Amino acid sequence: MQERLDALLSAARAELSAATDDAALEQWRVTHLGRRSEVTGLLRSVGSLPREERRAAGQAANAARRELESAFESRQAELRRSADGAQMDVTMPGYPVRLGSLHPLTRTLREIRRVLAPLGFRAVSGPEVEWDRYNFELLNIPADHPARDMWDTFHIDDKARPGELLLRTHTSPVQARVMEQIQPPVRVIVPGKVYRYEDRDASHEAEFMQVEGLAIDKHITMADLRGTLTYFVRAMFGPDRELRIRASYFPFTEPSAEAEMSCHACDGDGCPVCGGTGWIEILGSGMVHPKVLADVGYDPDVYQGFAFGMGVERIAMLKYGVTDIRSFYRNDLRFLRQLR
Ligand code: DAH
Repeated sequence: MQERLDALLSAARAELSAATDDAALEQWRVTHLGRRSEVTGLLRSVGSLPREERRAAGQAANAARRELESAFESRQAELRRSADGAQMDVTMPGYPVRLGSLHPLTRTLREIRRVLAPLGFRAVSGPEVEWDRYNFELLNIPADHPARDMWDTFHIDDKARPGELLLRTHTSPVQARVMEQIQPPVRVIVPGKVYRYEDRDASHEAEFMQVEGLAIDKHITMADLRGTLTYFVRAMFGPDRELRIRASYFPFTEPSAEAEMSCHACDGDGCPVCGGTGWIEILGSGMVHPKVLADVGYDPDVYQGFAFGMGVERIAMLKYGVTDIRSFYRNDLRFLRQLR
């Protein structure tokens, strides 16, 4: 009995591994486990064996049947797995997820804010379509003042208020808006879009971004301006930067100053980045003009302050070594990815 069972088992196993589809598997089941299969026949024959052999023969035949059943089940599972696998290999890596990234100007803007926040500068905003009054008048630039030539302006064609609305040419009007609203101490920065009627070239855009800074309090001096700007250029461009300020002119500051930092590319020796001078102009600044303070209702004998304004693109160009301002607005991913 045992010999027949062994022979049967090994033959059945060989056939089973040759079965590669459902039909062959079913065929195998009928042949080896069905009513007319050999094991079934052998099991039936146990009753006709001599009494003392029955028990052992019965057990052996049952064990063989169980073995055939479990071989069948595992082969069936194996075939299912490989059928699934033919459609989908769960061990394959997925498609790579394409991550976007922040625009270099957004990153620069955020960095400027992050650097100035610990000094107490809170970011505020103002309208891009602005009144002449805020963009010019309240900044000590009356209607026929020649200083208006410093800003080539897009005017809004509004029949009801001719000549009163424009696209703001700088973020400075928000200085007046803030001072009208709150009493000193004031410490704000104003990030935002500004517009100029410009011919666009490598260093000029008609739309660009500025960050304005304003600090008003009792006893603020030019030393505070210097200290703030020195801290700023070092935080943005490295601890070795030196700051120098040179006399300049803006109608809303007196004195006015052009702030420059020692060139971060050559450390002040002179190179193409700084045009050989060792110094790079980074922003306009000054002590807020007493007239500006008085016009918003502050007493210039009690309060003083400083202001500054910088171009975000310019800071980003210096930081990332970009030579054409227009590349920030071309949406060319090859350019943007380089600055990630
Ligand atoms: N508003 C000036 C401009 O757009 C920049 C500027 C200069 C801002 C001096 C200031 C300042 O606040 O004090 O050219």
